[in-house]
Amino acid sequence: MKEEELLQIINQMTVEEKIYQLVQWDGSLYDDNSFLTGPKVDLDISDDVIRNMGSVYNVFGAEKLRKLQDDHLKTSRLKIPLLFAADVVYGYKTILPIPLAFGCSWNPRLVKDGMGMVAKEASAVGIHATFSPMVDLVRDPRWGRVMESTGEDPFLNSVYARAQVEGLQDNLDHQHLAACVKHFAAYGAPEGGREYNHVDMSERRLRQDYLPAYKAAVEAGCKMVMTSFNTVDGIPATGNEWLLRDVLRKEWGFKGVVNSDYASIKELMDHGAAEDEVHAAKLAIGAGVDVDMKTSIYANHLKKAVERKELDITKIDEAVLRMLNLKNELGLFEDPFRGIDPKVEEEVLHAEGNKEIARALAQESVVLLKNDNHVLPLSKNKKVALVGPYANETSLMGTWAAAHADREHIMTLKTAMENKIGDNLLHAHGCDIVDDYSFLGHLAVYFQGRFANKDVNKDLDEALEAASQADIIVVALGEHMLQSGEAASRTDLTLNKMQVKLLEKLHELNKPIVCILFNGRPLMLDPILDKIDALVEAWFPGSEGALAITDILFGDVNPSGKLTMSFPMNVGQIPVYYNGFKTGRPYVPGDLTKEVSKYTDVRNEPRYPFGYGLSYTEFEYGDIQLDTNVLIKHKSIHASITIKNIGDRRGKETVQMYIQDIVASVVRPVKELKGFQKVQLDSGEMVKVEFVITDEDLSFFTKDMIFTAEEGKFKLFIGKNSSDVKEAAFEYVD
Ligand code: GLC
Repeated sequence: MKEEELLQIINQMTVEEKIYQLVQWDGSLYDDNSFLTGPKVDLDISDDVIRNMGSVYNVFGAEKLRKLQDDHLKTSRLKIPLLFAADVVYGYKTILPIPLAFGCSWNPRLVKDGMGMVAKEASAVGIHATFSPMVDLVRDPRWGRVMESTGEDPFLNSVYARAQVEGLQDNLDHQHLAACVKHFAAYGAPEGGREYNHVDMSERRLRQDYLPAYKAAVEAGCKMVMTSFNTVDGIPATGNEWLLRDVLRKEWGFKGVVNSDYASIKELMDHGAAEDEVHAAKLAIGAGVDVDMKTSIYANHLKKAVERKELDITKIDEAVLRMLNLKNELGLFEDPFRGIDPKVEEEVLHAEGNKEIARALAQESVVLLKNDNHVLPLSKNKKVALVGPYANETSLMGTWAAAHADREHIMTLKTAMENKIGDNLLHAHGCDIVDDYSFLGHLAVYFQGRFANKDVNKDLDEALEAASQADIIVVALGEHMLQSGEAASRTDLTLNKMQVKLLEKLHELNKPIVCILFNGRPLMLDPILDKIDALVEAWFPGSEGALAITDILFGDVNPSGKLTMSFPMNVGQIPVYYNGFKTGRPYVPGDLTKEVSKYTDVRNEPRYPFGYGLSYTEFEYGDIQLDTNVLIKHKSIHASITIKNIGDRRGKETVQMYIQDIVASVVRPVKELKGFQKVQLDSGEMVKVEFVITDEDLSFFTKDMIFTAEEGKFKLFIGKNSSDVKEAAFEYVD
């Protein structure tokens, strides 16, 4: 349909029909047991609103959505189709590893393919748009939603933002989805890591670190942007005209739909930014929020504001046009059903090809953090005792996929290992993941019963018995899947005491111990590190995760994952991230001077730094070669380095390139990621990896807030992680 035809529709719409087009509700409209993603909200909207609503989210199923659309079109006077959105963040039925895991793959091409698969499955069940990718930059593992992010670096998050949008949307055909980048902006920086807490930072930090990934998603053409719950410079994002109109639309040229987050328009009152619902309605639509998710505020108050001449109808018309444009780009006016067919759904969901992509991405997302005495990979001829709460567990998909994943399609680690080594595998549960479900608040009641008739001593004895018969122990530990994700901030990030006790008892057997960790955030590992010989960070690896982990444990795949979020030594060290600042009194490791920037009780460096991950082989780095030491504006420097696989097996290595601006009009980080290349080398193979550096790579927001490079001296770092690097120097001349 041409835009003028859309405008003709708008001209025929009543004010009510226009306003109702901006209302978005979830599946609870149709099903009391639908998957709620926030506090229950009373449905204070009339049937007339429902008949003319613009979009519905988190309803799934080709048959159900075909009927929903059909019924809707029968009652919609102007036959405007419903938009079906959903939280398909990293998987619908075939589930990818959580984003904090797949970020460790440093393989944006594979992530793009993975998101293409996600779009294929979700579109097959009738979904048109997805509230994904989440690209919030994160530096605080106390915040439960770090699991949805790709980590602490603006450059890498921008690379993944583009890859995810391109994978989800492609050409927006019927097998792809409109992407909704979220949460705009800086939701990942709540004070204290406490969920929904105040966010406050300089505009410079916001633009330099927190906005780039959203901008990258917009530049990749994402069709929707979701506002965040938090304030930005004291004004809630959902009512922040500077953020939504000046930055997002005027500076970045975004022309798509701005979707509120769950009831975030109502929350303008809770923040103390709006006096009542009419005020909240005017503030949000005035700031540029097109869609009101899960409140009746637009529906019940916008018309009054227009009638009282407190709101210009053009603000509503522009929002309606953006909504109709989105539906038009999705082809919904020509085919409101986008070809959905239960038979196609049957073929697409859980297709083998989907599983292969998810398994490949899970293989590259696992991070080997420790491997003393090369205890890994395991021999298939040795007796292995697999113990621990995640040994025979299907909760491997992370919170955003929990509601729609099919458990029967998720293999446990126990089954995957039995398939590999048969009778050589012994198994025992050992202990539960948690011994108390109160962290679930009002949901705990559904879980507490699991402790009835629990004999913790028997569990422990069985684990020790199995371990005593084995050559090596694999212990599968971690945090409960629902201990990460939304509304899951925590201040104690160590493993549950039952799990630590299990490990202590296993350690007394004096056998090699491999720990597999299942978690949605960096955990504090010091209590366990001296009891294990190897540590495999599996995250929540998705529906094919157990297969991928087993591929790695037995050496069929060589691990290549590298962390994208630092693991702190302890919670007191948070925030700790690689791209920090020198300070006026920089600490030099080993220097005993008291009056320098350091702690007196713990080192400055994290337990594991950004970019860190081991392999079963070893890569040797040569020295950096530069074709010139002077970079002239609009010219470039070619940097190269040789990498040699000096181990005995093929492996993949992510070569990382960082730059430091030594002196500038504002202080600059000690290093910043500006490039990376993932290479595969056979044993003995050597390759020269090249990077091209331009003044774009040196640009930052100067003291005058101009994004540009400044002349001066720079350092170039190339290496295997953010702290183990080779160094070179160059100068930039304007
Ligand atoms: C939630 C989340 C957001 C999600 C939305 C709809 O509160 O903040 O990420 O897309 O509600 O479920």
